[in-house]
Amino acid sequence: MAAKATKALVEVEKLTKAQAKVEHMRLSLEIEAHNERYYQKDAPTVSDAAYDALRQRLVAIEAKFPDLVTTDSPTQKVGAAPARGFAKVQHAVPMLSLGNAFSDEDVTEFVDRIRRFLKLDTEHIPALVAEPKIDGLSLSLRYENGELVRAATRGDGFTGEDVTANVRTIKDIPHTLKGRNIPAACEMRGEVYMLKKDFLELNKKQAEAEDTVFANPRNSAAGSLRQKDVSITASRPLKFFAYTWGEMNERPADTQHGMLDWMDKAGFVVNPLTKLCKDVDAVLEFYNKIGEERASLGYDIDGVVYKVDRLDWQDRLGFVSRSPRWAIAHKFAAEQAMTILNGIDIQVGRTGAMTPVARLEPVTVGGVVVSNATLHNEDYIKGIGNDGNPIRDGVDLRVGDTVVVQRAGDVIPQVVSVVMDKRPKSAKPYKFPETCPVCGSHAVREEDEAVRRCTGALICPAQAVERLKHFVSRLAFDIDGLGDKQIQEFYEEGLVMSPVDIFTLQKRDARSTTKLMAREGYGETSVRNLFNAIDARRTIELHRLIFGLGIRHVGEGNAKLLARHYGTIENFREAMLAAAKGTKDEENTTEAYQDLNNIGGIGEIVADAVVEFFAEPRNVKALGELLREIEVKPAEQPRKSSPVSDKTVVFTGSLTKFTRDEAKAMAERLGAKVAGSVSKKTDYVVAGEDAGSKLTKARELGVAVLTEDEWLKLIGE
Ligand code: IVH
Repeated sequence: MAAKATKALVEVEKLTKAQAKVEHMRLSLEIEAHNERYYQKDAPTVSDAAYDALRQRLVAIEAKFPDLVTTDSPTQKVGAAPARGFAKVQHAVPMLSLGNAFSDEDVTEFVDRIRRFLKLDTEHIPALVAEPKIDGLSLSLRYENGELVRAATRGDGFTGEDVTANVRTIKDIPHTLKGRNIPAACEMRGEVYMLKKDFLELNKKQAEAEDTVFANPRNSAAGSLRQKDVSITASRPLKFFAYTWGEMNERPADTQHGMLDWMDKAGFVVNPLTKLCKDVDAVLEFYNKIGEERASLGYDIDGVVYKVDRLDWQDRLGFVSRSPRWAIAHKFAAEQAMTILNGIDIQVGRTGAMTPVARLEPVTVGGVVVSNATLHNEDYIKGIGNDGNPIRDGVDLRVGDTVVVQRAGDVIPQVVSVVMDKRPKSAKPYKFPETCPVCGSHAVREEDEAVRRCTGALICPAQAVERLKHFVSRLAFDIDGLGDKQIQEFYEEGLVMSPVDIFTLQKRDARSTTKLMAREGYGETSVRNLFNAIDARRTIELHRLIFGLGIRHVGEGNAKLLARHYGTIENFREAMLAAAKGTKDEENTTEAYQDLNNIGGIGEIVADAVVEFFAEPRNVKALGELLREIEVKPAEQPRKSSPVSDKTVVFTGSLTKFTRDEAKAMAERLGAKVAGSVSKKTDYVVAGEDAGSKLTKARELGVAVLTEDEWLKLIGE
């Protein structure tokens, strides 16, 4: 994408009303497109700063020209812009990590080291506090005079992210500390985590909504905490255990267990399994007991942490590199088992995502029977994915393989390795299907995307219900009385299977012996109202239809851009069918595709998605059927009287009065066509500074060449 020449923007103060109007529309569309990429797709294409600059400009324009403020302006929709990204926070005391012990000997060695360091004689055995090692993410909470003022993630240990607003939604975390004995400044630290049952429930919902599915409760807690939209964090069941502290100007106790008691009294949740142990035998006993209980605990733990109880000894012991000498994490071994990969099935989600699932010979792993495991995507099977798959490293999975399955604190089992000695000679590399196993449409993988998707948006049964719900949703056909619930019911009963069925419902109902009217919850009036509401939408704006098709990456903003560019459904359909002819080639060189890709605000990803939709004949057929039932209003056309209507303009050189995108939006709004190269068909070439070959060509062909000022004068600005 070409860099934006922001320096060339006209100052808001100097904008005329007409310019401001054009600019307002351009900014609104651009912000909407960014919002969609950021909030819905989690795939922003601009920096936070660039986005903020766009919004600020829009706000400034609205401040100067208040009558440009419409209810659908981005400034009205989201209220205050949600924070993009998180501010950085420097930890007053670094958040360090722990050394690991993997065996009983490692633990004995840890205690011996402490005794040597402190020069303790044989009578003095340091008491240790044993705490479950919670598998979540650590958090630092700063309280000043008992009030929570800042919450930060660990980050790299020195600088974390400011998640204060998110953290305030976690019930386990007090906003005000209780009791007396509260240090003026204190940083409490502990672990944010999610209960296993809550994680499973959340994942179920996420999968249904085709949203991010988390690999384990830890990722799920991290993903839920780090949400730009705080209301999402608030809706997630996050929990917190306090176990240590950072900066604290006065310590309310002089032992680790005393500090934990104090935390409890101050209003934190301290892990109830925590135990003060008098010697190594006692901690090992604790470790074994917790190991046995581990599977039945409500949350994941990956070991036990031992900490020297006396704080004066902790102080003397201090740190080696990045971990304390006074604490260690005694890790649990991952639970593993060997089994056979019997097959790989492909599940198609509600937006067409194809997810491979391993069908395993059932085996027990840590007391739980495992018979399938998610394989995430195509690359994961090849062993090159990065979705939590550091272990297999290039070794692919083949049906018939003997594999090692692991539940490492994770609820979802992973296939961690292949026993190569046991690979059957006949085992062949797995070939990921290129067509949807449900509807047979072709399936595509976008550049830089791991997921392959079915393109049969309108016809795939795996996607149908979601697509239909989208089709009738507010920004699409917006049919009163036809919401998610009705669509679900009508689909299940075979009444509405594809968009066109909505518009033939009344005709079919008239002939049917089981009338809608006779259904529970329906009466004569409600059925009449429904048919009236459907009829009212038989005439629909082009952008609503385009949005309603449910093409990937085509949200409301992009649908408007497309509608405005093509004007009518006929033009749009013709052009997309022409562009679809180029999808088989390495690069789509059709003129129609180039034209689509050149629309300001439409990038390659969007263009490809639209064209893939039209490359699937069954989608085209479904659209054709729909168009026989409805009438599509042409998009609002630019002013007819414009002196540049239907003229072809080329902008070249570096523009100083407006950016290339602005110029383009302005020209298109006035009915001109903006082209990328000069030909005999070109009417005007607007040349900025340092214009090169295009200017020369224009002169050769005798095309009118304008300066920026002349152009502005021509269009009456
Ligand atoms: S104490 C200076 N106690 O383990 C060390 N950490 O591997 C401060 N963790 O980053 C950490 N449960 O996220 C401590 N009871 C516990 C813990 C615990 C889990 C995590 C924490 C830390 C990581 C270190």
